[in-house]
Formats: sequence, structure tokens, C-alpha cells
Amino acid sequence: MKVVHTIEELRDQLRGQLRVAFVPTMGNLHEGHLALMKTARQHGDPVVASIFVNRLQFGPNEDFDRYPRTLPADIEKLERDRNVYVLFAPDEKEMYPEPQNFRVQPPADLGGILEGEFRPGFFTGVSTVVLKLLSCVQPRVAVFGKKDYQQLMVVRAMCRQFQLPVEIVPQETVRAEDGLALSSRNGYLTPQERAEAPMLYATLRRLQARLHEGVRDTALLEREAIATLTERGWKVDYVAVRRQRDLLPPTQEEMEREEPLVALAAAKLGTTRLIDNLEL
Ligand code: PAJ
Repeated sequence: MKVVHTIEELRDQLRGQLRVAFVPTMGNLHEGHLALMKTARQHGDPVVASIFVNRLQFGPNEDFDRYPRTLPADIEKLERDRNVYVLFAPDEKEMYPEPQNFRVQPPADLGGILEGEFRPGFFTGVSTVVLKLLSCVQPRVAVFGKKDYQQLMVVRAMCRQFQLPVEIVPQETVRAEDGLALSSRNGYLTPQERAEAPMLYATLRRLQARLHEGVRDTALLEREAIATLTERGWKVDYVAVRRQRDLLPPTQEEMEREEPLVALAAAKLGTTRLIDNLEL
């Protein structure tokens, strides 16, 4: 695997390649990330991964400074896995040349809800860096995880809106045996919190079971899930039952029909904020 830090080196490595498959990450790689690399391998060649902790998508009180930076271990994992041909690990000056005053602003009805409501500016930060990374790598396909369901939809909408010649391929969420979605932020959890963490997904599964029992009142389904988590000590940002196609609330009529739905949740255990979702 070639590790490159500048756009010039990246371009040198990729000259003439028309079938590049790309996986952007912020590093601290786990099996979820590695599943994306494997999927990328099935959709193109060569596979390019990036590791860049993007300051712009972190809020002022978020974990940018303590976000785990583990480049040597990440390189080792990718070497062992043998799916990635080039790793692009740029620094801040490379990705945000001064003066850094351009931004990609997603529409409020997609980027301002759910995660966007609780993390103002998050999807502006994500969209801006993903556009930059796509410009650098110029892949034919790029793989994103369904773990970050709304992010996947924002990126898709951006690519469509800006006519980017890239296909966005989704990757199913990779979970630990107890159901917890793998995440770099799981490393912040204390042993007790780690034992409690699978309840987030378990609560979404319970919500799904209630829907299958015939409960069609989304507000009731959401209240029940929020109550379960709150009673166990979680600080819930949201549990929301939404339409898969646009993440807006389903109408009562759509609840009666077979409208594809997704339940999305974000909640804090101690100081660690976890997100998860389940297609219903
Ligand atoms: P990061 O959190 O490192 O995630 C990189 C990619 O891995 C994302 O597409 C994410 O959805 C996917 N991913 C993470 N955990 C996963 C899991 N358990 N199962 C499947 N996929 C998983 O998401 C970002 O970085 C950034 O916002 C980024 C897109 C790189 C822009 O900075």
C-alpha cells in the first residue's frame, strides 16, 4: 500500500485510473471501516482510502481534540487487509488552503434535521470535506456506511445536485456480537458504559417489534423508546421514525401503507454520544 500525504502524490499514483473506488474515513479504523474497503474492492479498482480528521464537522464543544488519531496502527490494519492500494492522509493545509472561505451548505430540510439539529454545521462540514476529497481522488464509486444514515443521504443528494460523476454505494452497519454498532467513539466508553451501550440498538429493535405488533402511532413509538433509554440513564437527543426516502416524518396514511421507514436514534452515555438506526 502506498501512503501519500499530498494531492500531487495522490494524482501521480492514480494517473489514468478510471475505475477508482474510494472510502473516506477519519481513521481509528475498525471492522466497520474494513468492511467498506472490502465493498469498495468489489465495486472498483484500485481502492483508495483516506484518513483525515475534519475539524470543520466538529462543533466547538465536540471531541475534535481528543478524537483518536492512530495512523501507524491504521496503516498496519490496511496493510494486513490488502484491499487498499493508496492511502491518502493529507494534513489540514492540504485540504483547507488559506483563505478557507468556501462551504457546501446542504438544504435545511435534509441537513438541518436530526443530526443537523443537534450538531449545527455538522453536515456543512461533512459536505465540504467530502466534495474536496472527491475532487482530489476523482473516484468512479465511493462507499459510505449506513451507520451514518443521514450522512449517506446528504452525500448522495450533494453528488446529484453537483452532477458529480460518482456512484455512492452504501455499506450495511457492522456490529459487535452484542449488537453495538462499531464506532471510533466506542473507545471513549467506560467498561460499565460499554456494557450498557447495546441498549441503543436493542431499543430500536424493540420499537420495530412494537410496529410489527400493529402500533402505528410514531409519536408513541418514539416516546416509548425515549422513556426506556432515559430510565436507564441515557441522555436522548432524539429517537425518530422517518421515511427512508427523505427522512421526513411519515403521514398517518403512509403508516398504514407499506412506506419504507427507518428509526434513527442519538443519545449520550456519560459524555459519549452514540448514534444508530434500523430500517423497519
Ligand atoms: P468515520 O466516522 O471515520 O466513518 C467513515 C465511514 O465508515 C463512514 O461512511 C461511516 O458511515 C462508516 N462506518 C463507521 N462505522 C461503521 C459501521 N459500524 N458499519 C459500517 N460503516 C461504518 O463518517 C466519517 O468518518 C466522516 O464524516 C467522513 C465521511 C470521513 C467525512 O469527514
